[in-house]
Amino acid sequence: MADEKRGMRRNLTAYGDEEFSLFLRRAFIKAMGYTDEALDRPIIGITNTFSDLNACHRTVPQLIEAVKRGVMLAGGLPVEFPTITLHESFAYPTSMYLRNLMAIDAEEMIRGQPLDSVVLIGGCDKTVPALLMGAASADIPAILMVTGPMLTGNHKGERLGACTDCRRFWARFRAKEIDEAEINEVNSKLAPTAGTCMVMGTASTMALCAEAMGMMLPGGAAIPAVMAERMRNAEATGKRAVELAKERLTPKQIMTPDAIENALRVLLAIGGSTNAIVHFAAIAGRLGFALDLEGFDRMGQETPVLVDLKPTGQHYMEHLYEAGGLATILRELKPLLHGKALTITGRTLEEEIADARVPEKQDVVRPRSNPIFGNGGIAVLWGNLAPDGAIIKQAAATPALMTHTGRAVVFESLEDLANRIDDPALDVNADDVLVLKNAGPKGAPGMPEAGYIPIPRKLGEQGVKDMVRISDARMSGTAFGAIVLHVAPESAVGGPLALVRNGDRIRLDVPQRRLELLVDDAELAARRRQWTPPQHDGEERGYRKLFLETVQQADRGCDFEFLAPKVTMRVPRKP
Ligand code: FES
Repeated sequence: MADEKRGMRRNLTAYGDEEFSLFLRRAFIKAMGYTDEALDRPIIGITNTFSDLNACHRTVPQLIEAVKRGVMLAGGLPVEFPTITLHESFAYPTSMYLRNLMAIDAEEMIRGQPLDSVVLIGGCDKTVPALLMGAASADIPAILMVTGPMLTGNHKGERLGACTDCRRFWARFRAKEIDEAEINEVNSKLAPTAGTCMVMGTASTMALCAEAMGMMLPGGAAIPAVMAERMRNAEATGKRAVELAKERLTPKQIMTPDAIENALRVLLAIGGSTNAIVHFAAIAGRLGFALDLEGFDRMGQETPVLVDLKPTGQHYMEHLYEAGGLATILRELKPLLHGKALTITGRTLEEEIADARVPEKQDVVRPRSNPIFGNGGIAVLWGNLAPDGAIIKQAAATPALMTHTGRAVVFESLEDLANRIDDPALDVNADDVLVLKNAGPKGAPGMPEAGYIPIPRKLGEQGVKDMVRISDARMSGTAFGAIVLHVAPESAVGGPLALVRNGDRIRLDVPQRRLELLVDDAELAARRRQWTPPQHDGEERGYRKLFLETVQQADRGCDFEFLAPKVTMRVPRKP
């Protein structure tokens, strides 16, 4: 019989008689056709995040088969189980609203079943952080794998990438540069294969950062979804999961402050999605660490952007894969990394870098001496408009707007934005600052990717491509522009953003890391006395009530306050 804490004896259902609980459990599992010999093997869970509404996870059934093969080759018993799955375009009001629900689901399914280790299969943006948050809290041996990026599409000889080119072509359609027939044609070509968005959006960012953090097999982040190697990676992941069950190597032993700092370093060097800041704040929070935005900005100032991928560069994930994947980036970053950090292989990051394939020739990852963007690709801003910080991805913004003072044009909510942004009567000029309120964690709710406020149609038709835009929302990693995001505290809890009015002057000074509302304190105090918080439909019950009552601000990763343990350390640590 197996060790009493392992296999079928783990987490017995509470009938008050453990031997009876085991007897009953084995009786029912035998209805699945298993033999006693199979049931005495290490039991390896596999999260099934497939859904007919999640194209990014279209290959999950095949991946599960490959993981199972690996588990069985290594002497384990694979068992798949469902979790919630989330696709960016199929989650109302936004996938971020449901990320914590998926994290709770993953945690409790991992904890509540007899699993000796678990393979986490994620891919689409919120799934990877949700699974890592759940695994961090459950803390049984766990290994992550991703579905992998899509291959690119092609339109009139030009490569197309989801979803940077979704936005680019939509902006061209809004500006009447292309007609309805062409935008419909493009629509069929933007996501040509299974897999995740193949630009440096949130999915690619989270995959690369999770690999850098050590939670994935080396090389696993960049392998395209539809390649045979992706299946071999799945088989190897299953095999490693069995070894992890025996070694009892848990996520808390991997996701250390060093490992999280490595992930943040990679986030900066890849010019990654700003969403990853929120997700890593949440993952770190599950481990008792608070993300230090000042420290993150300091890391940014010493980390150049090296990866030449859309939306800031030219290439796509398939090219990064050909260029050696994450290892090529890590090799370049080596002096800035914690090389002794332990990875899921049981070896250190520097050992993995030393053994990784070196591409003969590549132009996707630049040397540190010749970066795509100097330091500070993602900058953190402070000021009277963002006392707890805001961020801007200046690597993907118009340089001339990085120091800018303009007149505020305010939208009170997402609905107000939708109703008025294209109104020909809207009083707006190209050097104004567009301000969106009530789009933060509690405001929207769910902090949607609404920070990419569209250029008002009448300005777009005049050729305006970028403006300073400010909100407490997030932005897709596939988007670009002079866009200030994650303003904290958000307007819905009475942050200063709530007090901005049309015609106020706002100063953005990215080199000085400042974001200021140029209104005197007495006037702001008077406005505050008149302010009332927004009301939400359905806030009196269910998940929405739980969300609105317990979601934390962006700087705490928007996790629910009762899910994160007490903070014991701030990361990145001071040098
Ligand atoms: Fe799933 Fe982009 S929509 S990764």
